[in-house]
Amino acid sequence: NKHFVSADQVTPAFADQLIARAEAFKAGAEPQLTQPVYASNLFFEASTRTHTSFEMAERKLGMTVIPFDPTHSSVTKGETLEDTLRTIAAIGVNVAVIRHPEDAYYTPLIAADVPLHLMNAGDGAGQHPSQMMLDLMTIHEEFGHFAGLRVGIVGDLAHSRVARSDMAMLTKLGAQVTFSGPKAWYTADFAEYGPYVPLKELVPQVDVLMLLRVQLERLTEAETREFSAANYHAQFGLTEELAATMPKQAIIMHPAPVNRDVELASSLVTGPQSRIFTQMKNGVFMRMAMLEWLFK
Ligand code: CP
Repeated sequence: NKHFVSADQVTPAFADQLIARAEAFKAGAEPQLTQPVYASNLFFEASTRTHTSFEMAERKLGMTVIPFDPTHSSVTKGETLEDTLRTIAAIGVNVAVIRHPEDAYYTPLIAADVPLHLMNAGDGAGQHPSQMMLDLMTIHEEFGHFAGLRVGIVGDLAHSRVARSDMAMLTKLGAQVTFSGPKAWYTADFAEYGPYVPLKELVPQVDVLMLLRVQLERLTEAETREFSAANYHAQFGLTEELAATMPKQAIIMHPAPVNRDVELASSLVTGPQSRIFTQMKNGVFMRMAMLEWLFK
């Protein structure tokens, strides 16, 4: 079976191929699935965008979606994820789209050769490959290339699977990645990919400013006290004043959900430099391209 789980498996040529296919879907191309496909979306963590977007992509591709609700499944009786997947595969599901709180939950499943395709919709603080691919599509649509682009990734790096997937792939594609936000969240794994730059210095130098949600649900008590909304916004947020120093061609991205007036001023969310809702629109077409690839 084919699986799409991590930035590690995406070469620049494969990224180009998926972007071209997603752009073709956006322009109205027809899907090329030749067999009936049954898809199930297993979300063990909250989601609005990724869950809805995968379901929209599946339906646009002509797949049949088999509902799965973890809170009413036999996972609550202790059934393992592997047995759950073997069960839905036996029933006839061909692809499982999974979001799970555990980092790299997919590694033992692939080693056990589960009998269906896996699509990773986000694992803990590990990877978020469909967000990565829709981010690449959005950047490509804007600039037409990646080499030499200056991408600033700002905020809750330590908890961010989006940052981990995006920094790896953008670097492979020749973009220059830099980081900002609370220094304690700029851990050794980020230092490998680019330098830390104070936000006021970084903002006037970027082509893409990628802001990350402060993951309030994952903060320690001390971090919650230190990073009240107003404190965080003043120190590490994109205020209207700071946004005025961005280059005119630069774009603001955010995987969302957004904490308004925390990562960025509320007025900037739908402002002329924001591509936040374009990212969500592109996500459907990119997920169509990724799901179609599994069956080619
Ligand atoms: N960007 C993203 O993964 O959003 P959801 O958590 O709503 O799916």
